[in-house]
This record gives sequence, structure tokens and C-alpha cells, in this order.
Amino acid sequence: MNGKRKGTIISPSLLSADFSKLTEECVDIERGGAKWLHLDVMDGSFVPNISFGAPVIACLRDKTKMFFDVHLMIDEPIRYIDDFVRAGAELITVHTEACSDVAATVKKIKDSGVHAGLTVKPATPVEEILPYLPELHTVMIMTVNPGFSGQKFMPEMLDKIKTLNAERERLGLDFYIEVDGGVGEGNAELLCSAGVDVLVAGSGVFGKEDRKAAISALIEKGDSCNG
Ligand code: DX5
Ligand code: ZN
Repeated sequence: MNGKRKGTIISPSLLSADFSKLTEECVDIERGGAKWLHLDVMDGSFVPNISFGAPVIACLRDKTKMFFDVHLMIDEPIRYIDDFVRAGAELITVHTEACSDVAATVKKIKDSGVHAGLTVKPATPVEEILPYLPELHTVMIMTVNPGFSGQKFMPEMLDKIKTLNAERERLGLDFYIEVDGGVGEGNAELLCSAGVDVLVAGSGVFGKEDRKAAISALIEKGDSCNG
């Protein structure tokens, strides 16, 4: 196995949590073994849904030590990077389709002192990300159309993951490969054997009664391919 793959990381998506008790939900998954927390920010324009913004993230910052993995589904995210950094983001991932200047947006994120990530919608080729690979901490592959949790995984996105994994090896880089959308026990092994390091799971964790069991099962499936 090439590239990163030092052990599967689970990044539960808060979008599937009970919004009336966000602190308890965060504590529950942190105790359950989650190292990252995936925070989906939607503006109702780039995607057809509105979720939450920097003030909610700021309120959660001192409630957990989890790594704040912020996924911005907003138009021209460069306008709001300062807000999300102040709120406690540690990784900010933006969509190439949402940025009129991708390089400037990545630079802005990094100059603000946090890690930068890029992602694309399912219809966009992964090649759009390749020129920026040396600058990135994480590349995320969307395996659903962004906007909602609980959608069906798109297996045809696997080729993008394989391309990324090969480029990571070829260029000697060590960015994380993350996957977002429809991830669960049924596909964790397949994804990780293709090179995925970080599994985002919304309904696959928060939708389960026993979150610790759900997280452990995902880690176990993911790690089973770590040759
Ligand atoms: C979709 C979001 C995802 C979503 C994942 O736009 O980016 O992070 O919450 O939810 P599941 O795991 O249920 O597909
Ligand atoms: Zn997401």
C-alpha cells in the first residue's frame, strides 16, 4: 500500500446529528473514537440546502479536541475564510467549482494558518484538482451530490480515488484522501483499499443508536486493507 494510510480516520458529519444537543452529540462521537469532526457549511446557493455557519462552529470549539474538518459548500468561499479560522477550523476544504480563483483561495486558507483541502462535485473531473496537489493537506472526493446527508454512494467515483492515489505515489506527496457521501460499513473496505485515509460518515455514525460501535466497525473495515 502506498501513500498515507497509517490507519483509518473517521470524520463524522455533524449534519446528521441532533441539532438541539450538539455538544452531547460531539462528546458522544469523541468518546466513540472519532478523531475528526466534519462540519458541512451550506449557503443555499452553491448547494440547494442551508445548514449552519461559523457561529455554530465557534460554539463547539471548546467542547471537543477533535480536529475540525470544515467542508465549505458556499460560493466564493475566499470571502469567509477569516470567519471560519476564527471559529476554530483546522482544515478548510473548498470546491473548485465555487472559486473564481482556486489558487488564491488555497493561498488565503494557508496564509491564515490552517490546512487547505480541495474537493469536486461528482460531475467535475478530479483533474481539476491535480495542479494544486503540492499545496494540499487533504483532497476530498464527493461520492454524492453535495447538499444532503443520507444519499446513495456513487461507486463510479472510485476511479477518481485511484487516480489521486496514483498521483500521490508518483509525486511523492502525503496529502490525505478523504471521501464524503454514502459511506458506511458496506463500502469502507473498498474505499480504503483504493487509498482512502479519511471516511466522512453522517448517517453512517449519527444515524446509529450506538455511535461507538459504528465508528469501531468503520475503522476495523478500513484498517482491514492496510497491508
Ligand atoms: C453532503 C455532505 C456530507 C453528508 C454526508 O453534502 O457534504 O458530509 O453530511 O452524509 P452521509 O454520510 O449520510 O452521506
Ligand atoms: Zn461534507
